[in-house]
Amino acid sequence: MNAALDIHTTVPRISRRGESLGTENAFVVLAEVNTLVRQGKDVVSFCIGQPDFPTPVNIQDAGIAAIRSGKHGYTPSAGIDELRAAAARDIGSRRGIDIAADDVVVGAGAKPFIAYTIASVTDYGAGDEVIYPVPGFPIYESQIAANGAVPVPIYLKEARDFAFDPNELEAKITPQTKLVILNTPQNPTGGILRRSDLEAIAEILLGHPHVWIFADEIYSRLSYDGEFVSLAQFPGMLEQTIISDGASKTWAMTGWRIGFIANRALAPVFTRWITNTDSCASQISQWAAVEAIDGPQDAADAMRASFLQRRDLIVRLLNDVPGFSCKTPGGAFYAWPNVTEACKLTGCADSEEFRKRLLYDAGVAVLADIHFGRRVPGDGQHIRFSYAAAPEAIQSGIGRIADFVRENSR
Ligand SMILES: Cc1ncc(COP(=O)(O)O)c(C=O)c1O
Repeated sequence: MNAALDIHTTVPRISRRGESLGTENAFVVLAEVNTLVRQGKDVVSFCIGQPDFPTPVNIQDAGIAAIRSGKHGYTPSAGIDELRAAAARDIGSRRGIDIAADDVVVGAGAKPFIAYTIASVTDYGAGDEVIYPVPGFPIYESQIAANGAVPVPIYLKEARDFAFDPNELEAKITPQTKLVILNTPQNPTGGILRRSDLEAIAEILLGHPHVWIFADEIYSRLSYDGEFVSLAQFPGMLEQTIISDGASKTWAMTGWRIGFIANRALAPVFTRWITNTDSCASQISQWAAVEAIDGPQDAADAMRASFLQRRDLIVRLLNDVPGFSCKTPGGAFYAWPNVTEACKLTGCADSEEFRKRLLYDAGVAVLADIHFGRRVPGDGQHIRFSYAAAPEAIQSGIGRIADFVRENSR
């Protein structure tokens, strides 16, 4: 063997943390879809969880004004005072609680706070447990593993409209439990935690003051049936709860990268994390987010109304597809139909094979349940649609799926 070549084919060892880091499969499937599209294939995509609207013009203008007026240097790591104050008012007023600007930290999206939280409340390899929803946003499990904590899934049940049973939560809490992750409205099921469930959860957690709660409420404004309720609203819960929200979904600002988080004790810790990583969120985006929160809300209200119409459209169409059964999601912009029968009809072994057939044979891109963690025992096969897509795309995409199932039924 050529020694010089050998030098170039070996690299030093990658850490367990690096090796165990998972990914968000929406991005993997999206790459697959883009390859097909480049090859000339016509694909209707329901993969990616972001509004299909442009950022409202007043918000764009605020970003441009920030650039033009020289507001584009570093900011304090916790964010500019104006945005911390605006986010504190916004988080507090929509939940009926008092949040101080000093308790709010602004980051480059809500996503980094998942890692910062897990890293701040668990110790690597110490057996610290984190309870998290399954199916759920894949970054939870990925960051639990990468931070050397123990992942403890709690299953969301179709029979409970994709909420978990609070009694199961109680049974999973141990002296090693350091963190419980809640997500409402939920990705990928669109399920919401109702007041009665949150009341029961609050009562359980009050008895466990050693447990933090990460309340992922990034879809809080996209709640359709009834009011949005946060765990932080319940007596005694605010101090233990880390409220996570942001600009991405509410104001169609995914690429601007602005998230905000509220918790008094952890705010200084999150600030130090940001000093150690991003330094600060983009100042330009921060000024745009001030306008998003404080400016007119007509565009955000119109987007929400449009998502609600599309929800009703997609749920109706999905329930007409042979072998599909779809609950009406209470929030976010995801539908999570049960396709167990459709898999059987088309001879697919599971939801992942079904997803691939939909992509390659029907030209429709969706995600499978396994992209959101292990399957819920006894709940069958599911796929995820993001219905942040044009109504025409919803009509034609679900039409293609219905044709595919009919033509391929055995
Ligand atoms: C449940 C959930 N949490 C957090 C995020 C992160 O949002 P962002 O980092 O854009 O604020 C997402 C985005 O898809 C999400 O679905």
